[in-house]
Amino acid sequence: MKVIGYSAVQRRLHWVVVALVALQFALQSPMKSAMEGLESGAAVSAVDFLVTTLHTWGGAAIGAIMVYRLRLRWQRPVPVGAGGLVGWSKKSASAVHWLFYVVLLFMAMTGVLHYYFEWPTAASWHGWGKWILLGLIAVHGLAALLHLLYKKDAVMRQMWGSRPPH
Ligand code: HEM
Ligand code: HEM
Repeated sequence: MKVIGYSAVQRRLHWVVVALVALQFALQSPMKSAMEGLESGAAVSAVDFLVTTLHTWGGAAIGAIMVYRLRLRWQRPVPVGAGGLVGWSKKSASAVHWLFYVVLLFMAMTGVLHYYFEWPTAASWHGWGKWILLGLIAVHGLAALLHLLYKKDAVMRQMWGSRPPH
């Protein structure tokens, strides 16, 4: 069978992860304050409990979904850029996609090592990883908008549409 475009599950999981990553960033300041409180030995407030629970479980969910998405990509090879990219743009798009998998799994692992194993180096890696992730999101989001608004090709439809583009 010749596979064209992402499956419905792949497209839904892409947007679920986007929403979860947005949640992780929205919780970053309250998460840091909650950790300061925990580390100073202060009583845990209901808000701190909610924030730490959402951030740790949200992060673990992102890690698990990315592992599952890796499996889906392995089973279902997809043409980057809906098959319309060549040369460096194809290579850079592909590199950004794979870097997302690496950085999101790295964030999930360093978060666990910091939170549950209290490893200080992991805390600083988690902080550095955030900037790499933000850089990737900026490049990737801008590229997607360029395809949608300027090139007007099938790239955005490949991830947004309700059915594969062909
Ligand atoms: C946290 C933010 C984001 C992450 C982690 C992310 C991750 C990814 C990954 C890993 C892929 C490769 C397909 C796959 O393996 O399933 C992909 C494809 C895609 N993403 Fe995102 N994405 C993010 C945000 C966005 C946003 C904001 C847009 C739109 C403005 C977008 C539009 C697309 C499109 C159109 C594709 C298909 C590109 C192609 O196949 O050439 N993504 N994304
Ligand atoms: C892909 C998933 C994740 C993302 C995108 C993410 C994102 C972030 C960001 C942006 C910060 C603020 C970092 C800073 O400004 O220094 C943060 C802090 C933190 N995250 Fe995550 N995180 C993820 C997963 C996890 C997981 C799974 C855990 C634990 C099980 C975790 C535990 C923490 C902790 C404890 C902090 C506070 C760090 C401090 O002490 O200042 N994170 N996270």
